[in-house]
Parts: sequence; structure tokens; C-alpha cells
Amino acid sequence: MNIIIRLENQNDYEEVEDLTREAFWDIYHPGCEEHFVVHKLRKVSAFIPELDFVAVQDDQIVGNIIYSKSKVVDRNNNEHEVLTFGPISVLPSLQKRGIGSALIERTKKLAEAMGYKAIVIFGNPAYYHRFGFKSAESFGITTAEGESFDAFMALELYKGGLQGITGKFYEDPCFHVEKKELEAFEKKFPYKEKHVTDTQFK
Ligand SMILES: CC(C)(COP(=O)(O)OP(=O)(O)OC[C@H]1O[C@@H](n2cnc3c(N)ncnc32)[C@H](O)[C@@H]1OP(=O)(O)O)[C@@H](O)C(=O)NCCC(=O)NCCS
Repeated sequence: MNIIIRLENQNDYEEVEDLTREAFWDIYHPGCEEHFVVHKLRKVSAFIPELDFVAVQDDQIVGNIIYSKSKVVDRNNNEHEVLTFGPISVLPSLQKRGIGSALIERTKKLAEAMGYKAIVIFGNPAYYHRFGFKSAESFGITTAEGESFDAFMALELYKGGLQGITGKFYEDPCFHVEKKELEAFEKKFPYKEKHVTDTQFK
């Protein structure tokens, strides 16, 4: 398998949205919204183009990772910038072959070199613990609603990166998707049937 990892460029946008739709379709709920999140993220100031990478095999885009700036707001209302990655997508037929890991490892190193302190994400701990993610709670970081759970994780990009940073986590508002705007966006894509699946209840 000969995979090249390179920065995404504007000519890739539609292919990456197709890929994201394929990767997330029916996984967490019937259909998906992550392809729309990718579409919106690239237009906001929180988007970090230098950390927006694709994996390419034989001229086909088979993976993508996208980062944005997010923040932890402490009890004195001080804002601390952190990173969030996601959506991260790998073409279903090529999953579990190391492409997702390669995208994470590559961008994690780059983010560290760019001077960012930490990455905070929502995701499956069974996957993300291998990259060093720990529960956000262990760093004193909760969701915006003050909640803690295993699927809410943080990773320091250097030792002590989150030292003194506690509080509530806020990602860019474009992660919030309204049903109506998603339905309008979805019309750009070929029809795809939605299903209720086992993975939606894990
Ligand atoms: C999650 C995803 C990006 C991982 O990419 P990948 O190339 O398949 O992953 P890798 O090959 O690097 O890693 C494979 C390992 O991760 C595990 N893994 C992959 N996706 C997982 C998931 N969603 N939950 C738990 N474990 C997962 C595999 O079981 C495998 O474990 P093993 O090494 O112990 O056998 C990819 O599976 C994907 O696009 N999934 C659908 C969209 C999605 O869920 N994105 C992440 C949202 S948090």
C-alpha cells in the first residue's frame, strides 16, 4: 500500500467531503453530518490550513484529518487556546491499515512544532488512548456544560502543556449543525439511504 500524506488544497475539497460522508455514514446515527462540518470548518477563522492533511493512494484521497482552534475557559474567564482535530476519516475499504494513525502521528508532531499546547477531542477512547490521549477530566477540563466522560479526552503536546489550564472546553460553533442546513447541504450529494445500525448504540 503506497500512501502519500500531504496538505489538503482547494481542489480536494469536494473529494474530501465525499470521503467524510462515506466514512461516517450510518456510524453514529442514521446518515451523518460530519461532511458538512468539514465544509463549514474550512471557512472559519478557527480552521488551521497548515494542519489539514489528506492521505492519497493512486491519486485517490483515502483519508483526511482537519484541525481547528478551540479553547478552555477558566473560572476567571481567561481563555486558553488548544487544538481540536476532527472529523478524521478513512475510506471504509481501507480502514484498519494504519492510515488514521499515520494522519494523527504526522499532524501531532507538526502541531507540537508549531507551538500548540494540547489537543482536546471527543472520540472513542479505545482508539485514541494509543496516541496518548487521557480523559479530559484528569486535566481538570470539562465540557462547556460541565460534564466529564471517557469519550472526552485531552493530549498534552509537550510535558506540562496543560499545566495551569483548567475549565470548560469550547470548540468552534460550526461543529453545531442545524437539521435544516444539513438537509440543504445533503442535496449536493447523490442520494444515500440512511439506516439504523449496531454501531450507533456503542
Ligand atoms: C477512526 C478512523 C479514522 C481510524 O482510521 P484507521 O485507518 O481505520 O485506523 P488505524 O488503521 O490507524 O487503526 C486501526 C486500529 O484502530 C481501531 N479503530 C479504528 N477505528 C476505531 C473506532 N472508531 N473505535 C475504536 N477503535 C477503532 C481498530 O480496531 C484498530 O485496532 P487494532 O490496531 O487494535 O487492531 C477510521 O476508522 C474512520 O474513518 N472511521 C469512521 C469515521 C470515524 O469514526 N472517525 C472518528 C470519529 S471519533
